[in-house]
Amino acid sequence: MGTSLNVLLIGTGRVAFHLGHALKVAGVSLVGVVGRSPERTSSMANELNVPSLVFGSDLPKADVLLIAVSDDAIAPVAASIPVSDAVVVHTSGASDLDRLAPHVHRGVLWPLMTMSPGLPMDLTAVPMVTDGNTQHAKSVVRNVAQRISSHVSSLDHADRELVHTAAALSTNLSLFLLGEAQRLLREAGIDPDLLIPAFRMMATKAGTVGPEEALTGPARRGDHGTIERHLDRLARDPDLRRAYALLSNMILRTYGHTEHGPADV
Ligand SMILES: NC(=O)c1ccc[n+]([C@@H]2O[C@H](COP(=O)([O-])OP(=O)(O)OC[C@H]3O[C@@H](n4cnc5c(N)ncnc54)[C@H](OP(=O)(O)O)[C@@H]3O)[C@@H](O)[C@H]2O)c1
Repeated sequence: MGTSLNVLLIGTGRVAFHLGHALKVAGVSLVGVVGRSPERTSSMANELNVPSLVFGSDLPKADVLLIAVSDDAIAPVAASIPVSDAVVVHTSGASDLDRLAPHVHRGVLWPLMTMSPGLPMDLTAVPMVTDGNTQHAKSVVRNVAQRISSHVSSLDHADRELVHTAAALSTNLSLFLLGEAQRLLREAGIDPDLLIPAFRMMATKAGTVGPEEALTGPARRGDHGTIERHLDRLARDPDLRRAYALLSNMILRTYGHTEHGPADV
């Protein structure tokens, strides 16, 4: 497919923004941005220096239609696009290829990264998970992914769903717990950012020595007295207390200690 790969970007949210920039930096030809809000679409199109289009208008010819919209909008958006020989691709780790019906060549390009508004991210080391329903779709999506990242793998829907679940467990849930921990400090008038250096170090060590080696704390050591005092501290937050007790019991068991007691007390 060489350098003549043309991509039409559909969506004006976080992933469209970062993928759009990464494709541009990689020298991929973007033939336009399609969105439902004329303001947001023309703002992104101006930034990428490509034509701005709204849904329902005539779309330029492209090798790849990259649909980066909310999971629930993928199917209606795909169904609204005229069928052609283009490879139609979504960016969701949690959605199957059937959502791209009735297109013949369907693909997935899932950046395994949390993306927020802000400056364009460097995606060159971000894992890109790809899939396709035909050999042509698989190879075109892989080609696009390899232009923006050196970390490309292919997974079918069942495996993607497992990776998506694992990613939610490891990142979304830890971040939520960090937010709750900061709330406890804030409510006590203590600087919530006291927790940030240790949180950063934890993430760094998870990537170097691995979570088993990096894990410390009372449950890892089997310090039941400290666990009990922590549970007392969480008495006014029953859900958080239960979560603390449940996760502590899982750690205690994993490291060969006796459990602290039932979590739902
Ligand atoms: N953010 C992440 O960390 C991340 C990472 C990897 C993959 N993904 C996947 O990437 C996709 C996009 O996520 P995102 O975070 O970029 O979402 P987002 O920032 O919330 O943007 C969603 C986009 O979908 C458009 N949209 C929503 N409903 C629509 C509809 N009915 N018709 C047409 N357009 C519609 C929105 O248009 P308006 O602007 O007009 O509302 C917006 O452009 C999702 O499939 C998500 O699972 C997200």
